[in-house]
Amino acid sequence: MLFTLKDGSVVRIRPIEPTDKDILAVAHGRLSEETVYLRFLSAKPRLSGSELRYLTEVDGENHFALIAVMADRPDDVVAVARFVRSSDDPGTAEAAVVVGDPFQHQGLGRQLGLMLADAARARGIRRFTATTLGTNLAAHRLMTAISRRLSSDYPAGATRTLVAELAA
Ligand SMILES: CC(C)(COP(=O)(O)OP(=O)(O)OC[C@H]1O[C@@H](n2cnc3c(N)ncnc32)[C@H](O)[C@@H]1OP(=O)(O)O)[C@@H](O)C(=O)NCCC(=O)NCCS
Repeated sequence: MLFTLKDGSVVRIRPIEPTDKDILAVAHGRLSEETVYLRFLSAKPRLSGSELRYLTEVDGENHFALIAVMADRPDDVVAVARFVRSSDDPGTAEAAVVVGDPFQHQGLGRQLGLMLADAARARGIRRFTATTLGTNLAAHRLMTAISRRLSSDYPAGATRTLVAELAA
């Protein structure tokens, strides 16, 4: 599907494919250190081969991922969103979204979050968890936007796990 950012840029959102490894690696290298840290909670200047396999070779059922690319430049990755179902609790999945720095705060994260939630519900998932820095207001707002009810565990150090009961 096509989605228009607040600055007028048009992106195409589609399921991620194994052939996206190279463009994903390039896009990761363009992320700021802060964005990488907020997403992965660690420094990660580049993605390894096994990380790229993990991130792109998804089954679409227990591990579902969307990629957003510029509509007129399909090799330019703008954002990625995914959920991974818990092996202990099939009704719960860990969700993660990352939007490239120049494209943040323009509505794309929220759109991807809503699409992830739709895909999750269609696969029997009722709850998303997301571990973020306690100060990550954008992630908190994004989880609120897709939730019927949002809670968080007690802050453990600088990170906390947000738990979103997905809206019907
Ligand atoms: C978190 C992230 C995915 C949000 O995506 P985005 O496209 O920037 O966010 P959106 O423009 O869709 O906004 C989502 C909500 O966050 C709010 N928001 C966005 N940026 C914000 C900021 N810097 N400070 C406070 N609130 C912010 C928006 O107002 C919106 O809230 P609303 O729905 O109540 O109006 C994106 O900023 C990002 O990639 N951050 C780095 C990685 C990360 O933190 N990932 C989440 C942890 S897994």
